[in-house]
Amino acid sequence: MMNVCNSHSVPENKNSLVEEIKNLRRQKNAIILAHYYQYGEIQDIADFVGDSLALAQWAAKADCDIIVMCGVHFMGETAKILCPDKKVLVPDMNAGCSLADSCKADEFAEFIKANPGHTVISYVNTSAAVKAHTDVVVTSTNARQIVESFPQDEKIIFGPDRNLGNYINSVTGRNMKLWNGACHVHEQFSVEKILELKLKYPEAEVLAHPECKQVVLQLADKVGSTAALLKYAVKSDKKQFIVATESGILHEMQKQCSDKEFIPAPPEDASCACNECNYMRLNTLEKLRDCLRDETPEIIVDKTIAEKAVLPIKRMLDISAKLGL
Ligand code: 13P
Ligand code: SF4
Repeated sequence: MMNVCNSHSVPENKNSLVEEIKNLRRQKNAIILAHYYQYGEIQDIADFVGDSLALAQWAAKADCDIIVMCGVHFMGETAKILCPDKKVLVPDMNAGCSLADSCKADEFAEFIKANPGHTVISYVNTSAAVKAHTDVVVTSTNARQIVESFPQDEKIIFGPDRNLGNYINSVTGRNMKLWNGACHVHEQFSVEKILELKLKYPEAEVLAHPECKQVVLQLADKVGSTAALLKYAVKSDKKQFIVATESGILHEMQKQCSDKEFIPAPPEDASCACNECNYMRLNTLEKLRDCLRDETPEIIVDKTIAEKAVLPIKRMLDISAKLGL
């Protein structure tokens, strides 16, 4: 039987770690935000668990001295840009993102220069320096609506995810110019493996994140952000779901739908039944405790970059609020 990573061994001293974290959080007036791709025990202790849009929205309204972002670096940066006066900590500074890394700011600036007269829309999975070259930031929850808020003939550059960009082009009839980047986790899902699971679970619906390749998205009953896939599973009458996104989301799905079965779609070179983001999984309860105790590693964003990057992030939050997202 293949290994299911989501059942990774929880530390033996989990209960004492949880107590320490709760005490430190109270003493330091901190809040803990966690993405759905975090280990279950981190999601369980967080003040708030959500997708990348919700994490930004929470950070923007946080009433605290310290925000601990249990996610990846760009999520911490977004929180710091929105809350420059707060200390923003991450449990592991090496928790990066292959998609963000696929778009270097200087190369992106050249791409924009080579395509004058375009509105620049960037996925939130980017560095602050890329956001500083951007007109509006989007997440997978609001990308379609934000693109549709521009006139049909608006000339748009979309970066860095080619899969999300292709998907938005296909559902909106746009022809946005795409940066050629991708996420190494979502690119791993394969049509063959999902079809094998469909044969085994013929009643199951396929849920897929738009960072997956187009051929995979064509098999999906629902394409959406982590939050949208969760919401769909909760509302659906179906009892089984094949989930083509990072397998950490299964924790909250299973919590909210104890009567339903969630089957992780495996990566192409499957030595394991589920597909984990090695960056997201750098964060552990021990590192969370240490970062609260020592108040490091801390996210620092260059002031000039932050002053530019905050504008497209706030634009996204404003549009999302108007759209009720
Ligand atoms: P969400 O916006 O759906 O949370 O996705 C974030 C992400 O990193 C997907 O790989
Ligand atoms: Fe980045 Fe992919 Fe990991 Fe999401 S799953 S944080 S896009 S590397």
